[in-house]
Amino acid sequence: MSTWSPDSWRAKPISQVPAYPDPVALAAAEAQLRKFPPLVFAGEARELKTHLADVAHGKAFLLQGGDCAESFAEHGADHIRDFFRVFLQMAVVLTHGASKPVVKVGRIAGQFAKPRSSDDETIDGVTLPSYRGDIINDIEFTDKARQPDPERLLLAYRQSAATLNLLRAFASGGYADLTRVHEWTMGFMKGSTAYPRFEELATKIDDAIDFMRALGLTSDNTPALRETKFYTSHEALLLGYEEAMTRRDSITNDWYATSGHMLWIGDRTRQPDAAHAEYFSGIKNPIGIKCGPSLSSDDLIKLLDKLNPNDEAGRITLIGRFGAEKVHDHLPRLIEAVTRAGRTVVWCSDPMHGNTIKASTGYKTRPFDKVLAEAKAFFEVHRQMGTYAGGIHIEMTGDDVTECVGGVSAVTEADLKDRYHTYCDPRLNASQALELAFLIAEEVRAQRPARVVAAQ
Ligand code: PEP
Ligand code: CO
Repeated sequence: MSTWSPDSWRAKPISQVPAYPDPVALAAAEAQLRKFPPLVFAGEARELKTHLADVAHGKAFLLQGGDCAESFAEHGADHIRDFFRVFLQMAVVLTHGASKPVVKVGRIAGQFAKPRSSDDETIDGVTLPSYRGDIINDIEFTDKARQPDPERLLLAYRQSAATLNLLRAFASGGYADLTRVHEWTMGFMKGSTAYPRFEELATKIDDAIDFMRALGLTSDNTPALRETKFYTSHEALLLGYEEAMTRRDSITNDWYATSGHMLWIGDRTRQPDAAHAEYFSGIKNPIGIKCGPSLSSDDLIKLLDKLNPNDEAGRITLIGRFGAEKVHDHLPRLIEAVTRAGRTVVWCSDPMHGNTIKASTGYKTRPFDKVLAEAKAFFEVHRQMGTYAGGIHIEMTGDDVTECVGGVSAVTEADLKDRYHTYCDPRLNASQALELAFLIAEEVRAQRPARVVAAQ
């Protein structure tokens, strides 16, 4: 640990690295980033860690979600607002279901770099470098577009800053005010069965707010009604960017990633002795670890030893992404290893990444019922093992896209072509996301401590 520095990862083996044609230009862009202001503050990351500690202790629930990959082309106020309001709707549904605070963490304002299963992509006999996210190259299938371009680091930083600015305004400037809960519903959701359920819940919230107003509690005098805490997260894949955004906190003298509040380490880059684990070991932010079927129990414990030697609660969120049929094969052994080692973690489920299939029409998609089945299996395993299922991690958008099949809005394989906009993995649309929130709320409610249920 004493040999750690923001660049000590450079001496370790690393995977998923783009081949920049001009290393001098890359170093210049990184040098410029080092001078830019931090996007988030260390104090905010610490605050999120305390909220996640509450999740680890079963006192709160984590909702983490957003685009698979943010794109430069989709950047705009409407896209951010539409995401934020569906996210708020989901959070309200979960808060109501769980009767617990919901910790809100977006995959946003920095979620640009994508791990790929292959370095190249071949179309009609032409082979070019794979698209690795807008922070690295362009999705267009031309030689020029696919070359990694360091200028994109600066564009990603600026987009993150603008996105974060709007999110901070939405979270504290009145948009998240619970008295506006009815206004969060979008027109196109009116055909979905989640819509009347949400309206019913919104009416209950209105009643509760009327009651509180009668007691003298209003959104003017009660910040908890008027604003919400919203945090950002992304996969810290592109370590040159992360290194440049790593700063020493003037209060504690500790190092923090300032590119986002919470960073996670992907399923393809989580080897305990490799570069990404090295980088994560020195920053004090709360961190996530994606746990796929290939993660051995030994490696998980090695990672916990390296990344959280003092077993600080809230530091580690384990994000399982096994596939609906594999949860029972892998989650119990990981829970057992963590419990045996006496470690404190947040257990979270990503029911998206293990359930990606190719539709007959060629599109990458995810069947909604598999997403739901994985989430249910996650709760079931925790019930069986006596541990707390603490969170859900999803890829979603506020837009009315057709990327995942199924759900009450019944997107079919033939519909996928209609509004398939993702730059990477298929996302739940607003109706599917809200429907999932209702179903998960039931699961969370079922695991409320008996004492709380009895008191009703
Ligand atoms: C992702 O979250 O978009 C991702 C690539 O996940 P994983 O590392 O779990 O495959
Ligand atoms: Co993804």
